[in-house]
Amino acid sequence: MKFSSTLLFMLTPAMVMGLLDQKMKAKGKRYFGTALDAWHLSGSDQSNIKMIAGADFGAITHENSLKWDAVQPQQGNYQFGNADAVVNWATSNNRLLRGHTLVWHSQLPQWVHNINSASQLTQVIQNHINTVMGRYRGRIYAWDVVNEVFEENGTFRNSVFYRLLGENFIDIAFRAARNADPNAKLYINDYNLDGPGPKIDAMIALIGRLRSRGVPIDGVGTQAHLILGQVGGVQSQLQRLAGTGLDVAITELDIRIQTPVTAQKLDQQYSDYQTVTRACLNVPRCVGISVWGISDKHSWVDSTFPSYDAPLLWDDWFNRKNAYWGVDNALN
Ligand code: XIL
Repeated sequence: MKFSSTLLFMLTPAMVMGLLDQKMKAKGKRYFGTALDAWHLSGSDQSNIKMIAGADFGAITHENSLKWDAVQPQQGNYQFGNADAVVNWATSNNRLLRGHTLVWHSQLPQWVHNINSASQLTQVIQNHINTVMGRYRGRIYAWDVVNEVFEENGTFRNSVFYRLLGENFIDIAFRAARNADPNAKLYINDYNLDGPGPKIDAMIALIGRLRSRGVPIDGVGTQAHLILGQVGGVQSQLQRLAGTGLDVAITELDIRIQTPVTAQKLDQQYSDYQTVTRACLNVPRCVGISVWGISDKHSWVDSTFPSYDAPLLWDDWFNRKNAYWGVDNALN
């Protein structure tokens, strides 16, 4: 069923609360979420964003403002203003928060890249995690403790973390995280886990080793930055990830369309979003889905993949797209 946006506008806020999120919860899942940053909540589109985030999303991920370069740009100099704004909005609106992310090679300040002693790097990781997670203890439901540790061929990425500490950097990070907030769910997160191949094989093998070493880990996140028409493998790979014994979550879903965007491709996007939503519903260990933003207007896809566009559920003018109804249909 398609609602007109005029009709939705006439409903009271209480009546529109939690459309997708509420339906997701009715299916036994924990949330349907999105990514946001402080500027979305204060910029010129804030009324649309707050209305939509209030109506459809039960979990919020900081798009950028919890990343290392945002919160600790220089050693010991912590900046929490933008991260706090998102936490405060989500908390006062009763949303869950997913913390993204603690140890990642990207959006990592130069001073960390420059470290060349293993013991110093260990301390720096522990301090960062203690300080950032400690600040929000009890308020952030799940954390992406490490992000994107693998190359596409399944070898470890050549980051400062891996170069100095080997695989042990992952153990160090998860142990520090459990210590900083014992009740938070701790995730490893990565992309291109949507089809078979060496990367997901390496992820599954790593999770096995972490668990056999007693490393505290609760979940694996699959980012799911997908391409139109290439979503058929999501459910079987999600099932394989769940087979590790961890919770699984779809953490950064978007489905980008090669330009030119046509009506036919937007119809295909309806069925692709339906397929991915069903994948989570069909895998009992899948706890929730987060999309990577609200409106196509603000998506990272425009600048990152210039020949692609229109990956999200709302268009540039904050109208619901067919893609939105694909999710909705899967949840009905
Ligand atoms: C992206 C943000 O959306 C952009 O605004 C930023 O410029 C770069 O990072 N994988 C992740 C996310 O884990 O943190 C990335 O977010 C998208 C890919």
